[in-house]
Amino acid sequence: MAEEPDWLRLNRANWDERVPLHLNAPDTYVLESLRDGSAHLDAIASGVLGPVAGLRVLHLQCHFGFDSLVLARRGAEVVGIDFSAPAIEAARGLAAELGLAGRARFVEANVYDAAAALPEPASFDRVFVSWGALCWLPDLRAWASVIGSFLKPGGYLALAEAHPAAYVFDDMTATPDGMPSWYMPYLSRQPMLEDRPEDYADPTARLTNSRTVEFLHPLSDILTAAIFAGLRIDRFEEHGHVAWKMFSGLVRHGHCDYRWPDKPWLPLSYSLRAAKG
Ligand SMILES: C[S@@+](CC[C@H](N)C(=O)[O-])C[C@H]1O[C@@H](n2cnc3c(N)ncnc32)[C@H](O)[C@@H]1O
Repeated sequence: MAEEPDWLRLNRANWDERVPLHLNAPDTYVLESLRDGSAHLDAIASGVLGPVAGLRVLHLQCHFGFDSLVLARRGAEVVGIDFSAPAIEAARGLAAELGLAGRARFVEANVYDAAAALPEPASFDRVFVSWGALCWLPDLRAWASVIGSFLKPGGYLALAEAHPAAYVFDDMTATPDGMPSWYMPYLSRQPMLEDRPEDYADPTARLTNSRTVEFLHPLSDILTAAIFAGLRIDRFEEHGHVAWKMFSGLVRHGHCDYRWPDKPWLPLSYSLRAAKG
């Protein structure tokens, strides 16, 4: 068997380690709200995804299934895919606990192997991808072609993501006033080797598997990947807010709504709807 590339091996070990932390990170993943049925998607993701009742939804990079289970509660039939075995195990456990196992199925697979792991081509009304997913993927054209292969004609990809223009900044390079400064070059298209023991959901965590390989995909590459896969861009919006505290200087305005205190003109996220003709 061919040796796994670093991006796959390192990133999966990193995400495996985060799963138990996130299952105990009530400020970010409010499991109680899943249990009492009050959990909902943030406004950007919900807006681009639209109603899901009665639809088949494929949720790529579903983590431990929090949003997948929200969608199942909203009447969707959901399949969540993630390459982390502990994430999938936790998702299945939560689905069983919530009585949603009949509507929410979870598959352990690398996104690029999804078609082999889930041989159900052209059978989904929606493919849903959100928040902090694309930066782990080396090849967006291959990613978009996986999505195209799963969508029914007339179905669409709903993507809500951090804006690549925001990824050029980072807290690690913060200036004395605490604002993030230049970090990653926007157009270099080179993998970034990171070594960060911190976790966004658990401020006390120090990860052992702290080395990762990440990718900054410029907007043009994201849109071109969708077009290259034969998808039609129906909706594309840039937003001055984002669903999580991406930088320590962001200020919370509401449920999953974080903004710059003084730069509303600097984009933090975007949403994209791309349909299969
Ligand atoms: C920031 S989380 C995404 C959160 C997600 N939007 C949710 O519903 O909670 C990134 C996820 O991508 C997964 N992931 C990263 N690279 C992957 C790959 N190549 N194939 C499958 N899953 C991957 C990780 O295991 C992790 O669960």
